[in-house]
Amino acid sequence: MARKKIALIGGGQIGGVLAQLAASKQLGDIVMFDIVEDLPQGKTLDIAEASRISGFDAKVTGTNDYKDITGADIVIITAGLPRKPGMSRDDLLTTNAKIMKSVTEGVRDNAPNAIVIIISNPLDAMVTLFQKISGFPANRVMGQAGMLDSSRFSSFIAWELDVSVKDVNAMVLGGHGDTMVPLVRYANVNGVPVLEMLERKYNDKAKAKEVMDAMVERTKKAGGEVVKLLKTGSAFFSPAASTIAMAQSIIYDEKRIIPTCCYLNGEFGVNGYYLGVPAVLGENGVERVIELSLDENEKAAFDVSISAVKNLIENMGKLGF
Ligand code: APR
Repeated sequence: MARKKIALIGGGQIGGVLAQLAASKQLGDIVMFDIVEDLPQGKTLDIAEASRISGFDAKVTGTNDYKDITGADIVIITAGLPRKPGMSRDDLLTTNAKIMKSVTEGVRDNAPNAIVIIISNPLDAMVTLFQKISGFPANRVMGQAGMLDSSRFSSFIAWELDVSVKDVNAMVLGGHGDTMVPLVRYANVNGVPVLEMLERKYNDKAKAKEVMDAMVERTKKAGGEVVKLLKTGSAFFSPAASTIAMAQSIIYDEKRIIPTCCYLNGEFGVNGYYLGVPAVLGENGVERVIELSLDENEKAAFDVSISAVKNLIENMGKLGF
């Protein structure tokens, strides 16, 4: 069986880790595109020269020509500027929309059958723009955000409870911004509600709630916490790892349920917008959205997130995109 072809658009911080992870997991042959001359060639050469040690036969190459992504099965897009300290993801809208427009045309014209995962921020707007310009069916265009936000939430829970993160299941819904919705009620450790474990740990309901609230707040601001520490650029290991999990579920038709920025067609009461919700990812991309019941508070938080995303899309429209 021929190896899958994975095109990475953007050879910066996230692009480099994506290439390295995809190669070491043998997900497919990798071609990295960037507009900066020699950058993708140099980065991929470096990764490819470790193939003997890392033990992969996948080809890893770099290019400045969109023609080289021809036939790609999966396209992962990181092209665009990252945040600087003090910036919100939405502050990237003007610059990154321009970049996304040119990237979309390149992908549409050279890899028309690909399944596309977008990482560039502001995520919900970039995914919407790609789908609109490309005209690709919505099941083949999605964004990575929820997987990472959920992974961050799960890590904080595991550290707090001193349990293996492998046993933690925690989900984050909504837009990839300050209004994201970490779902406290559904968070569990091998089926045991996290809140219950916290109440046992502290033997105090109020304290348990306080600790949970702090983890929720940290999750919402986790990207900014990293930006502030790095000072130049934003998180890149964890976004890359999250996206590779999505790509793997698609390539191997694993049908994992992954919080994904996907197009909603009435699910969760939302029509015609991209938003983060749990979805089954398989060989057809987003195969279906998993709906779940939200209580009054969760619904209210989700509504705020929907409004923020609608506002972002409206602002993008005003900019002419
Ligand atoms: N086409 C292709 N690549 C482009 C274009 C373009 N039009 N414009 C910029 N790039 C490339 C840059 O040359 C750079 O190599 O995109 C790459 C972005 O890499 P970094 O600046 O290192 O950013 P990174 O940390 O990888 O984040 C990329 O993902 O999480 C989001 O907010 C983040 O929007 C940012 C994106």
